[in-house]
Amino acid sequence: MTHAEDAHGSSDLLVVANRLPFDLDADGEWHRSPGGLVTALEPTLRARGGAWVGWPGRPDADPEPFDDDGLAIRPVPISADEVAAYYEGFANATLWPLYHDVVATPRFERSWWEAYRRVNERFADAAAGAAADGATVWVQDYQLQLVPQMLRERRPDLRIGFFLHIPFPPAELFAQLPWRRPVVEGLLGADVVGFQTAGGAENFRHVATRLTDATRDGAGLTAPDGRAVAVDAHPISVDSSHLDGTAREPDTAKRAEALRHELGDPRTVLLGVDRLDYTKGIDVRLQAFAEVLGSGRLDPAGTVLIQVATPSRERVEHYAEMRDDIELTVGRINGEYGAVGRPVVHYVHQSTPRDELVAFYRAADVMLVTPYRDGMNLVAKEYVASRPDGDGALVLSEFTGAADELAEGAYLVNPHDLDGVADAIVAAASQDADEARRRMGRMREQVLEHDVERWAAGFLEALGVT
Ligand code: ADP
Ligand code: G6P
Repeated sequence: MTHAEDAHGSSDLLVVANRLPFDLDADGEWHRSPGGLVTALEPTLRARGGAWVGWPGRPDADPEPFDDDGLAIRPVPISADEVAAYYEGFANATLWPLYHDVVATPRFERSWWEAYRRVNERFADAAAGAAADGATVWVQDYQLQLVPQMLRERRPDLRIGFFLHIPFPPAELFAQLPWRRPVVEGLLGADVVGFQTAGGAENFRHVATRLTDATRDGAGLTAPDGRAVAVDAHPISVDSSHLDGTAREPDTAKRAEALRHELGDPRTVLLGVDRLDYTKGIDVRLQAFAEVLGSGRLDPAGTVLIQVATPSRERVEHYAEMRDDIELTVGRINGEYGAVGRPVVHYVHQSTPRDELVAFYRAADVMLVTPYRDGMNLVAKEYVASRPDGDGALVLSEFTGAADELAEGAYLVNPHDLDGVADAIVAAASQDADEARRRMGRMREQVLEHDVERWAAGFLEALGVT
């Protein structure tokens, strides 16, 4: 602490998220956490000298708070039972599938809900203890939807924002949730509630007025207690100029070239980069890829697909099943279309360092982003930011938030339409240089101008922080 602590904490700006930007491993070492939320927020909060309240990523771990190069880290412990019920259960087996168009069937368990409430209380307590008088607290994502209201009860002096990184579903789906009303009331505790898309924001306004006494007030809402709640789309983005800069480095170009060489100098390299999640449509792109090889529209001898998949939520049933399915499919495709020493699918079940990832992006002629539903999908934007050469093509699911912004340059697909995905892969792989530059140029204008710093500044401005 740099000055005498009053009854409250000393941080003027706090992010509260389920995960800290680093995970603690069994040996007590910290590693960067997976996923788009951390990628987007960490540089932003560090630059502003804020505090991050979150779980250290290991059941029962209770490390001391520490400061990391301008970023105050405030760990919140979660027990093994709570990890099973709150994180693997309610967050990732109830809310995650429900909010992603029920791509998998959500499970509704009362004991999971109880754990969700209890852990949300703990985060609210931690944030209340760390925030200075009149501080701004920015709560993140579906794991912590009750925190805004709980925090307001504890600390009415705070400005509270909430941002949902995943889609907010239509009323017809949200209504399935047995605890739909307390969830909406939790969110209405914020001064600003932000969503990835205009559609998500509208779904929330509709649900809030249907399930509570909130009323519409222009684009926002008036909460049942009479407070104004701003509700808007704030599409998240990437650190575009940093990625662009890394991609321009001679070492990156060399690494990209070496990568293609290691792959046997194929004519066409396709790439997928995802957390291994059933919403990402990894299965659909593998199937479509197999079909274009099978029909001879792309030549197996000159085409390679790299799929990099970060391990994710491995103890949740749907994830374990999906991993098995995908690995089986990769084996089948290689068995059918590969040769000894020359697989057509290179599958890596690992996290990849950022610089290496940019080299992958630069090496790829076609980037495949085919989720069944995705709040934004940062990978699509990272690919675009990493192509200062103006080359490359993006096959993009229309069910991602990113499609709202990249429609003019991407090859948009419906991931449920296998023929459409196969056609888009062929079109993207066959585009000429002028078409590539025209499409990539459009997308780069959007991504370079609307970067993550602009996103954070826009949200914080809505919260009254300048
Ligand atoms: P989600 O938030 O659902 O994981 P996003 O596409 O929005 O999906 O964000 C994923 C983030 O994780 C991106 O920043 C991406 O670069 C990173 N990432 C995904 N897969 C890998 C991987 N295999 N290795 C390293 N980083 C990855
Ligand atoms: C998505 C979610 C984040 C989450 C991340 C990684 O980006 O929106 O809230 O942190 O995936 O998932 P995990 O369950 O490992 O935290």
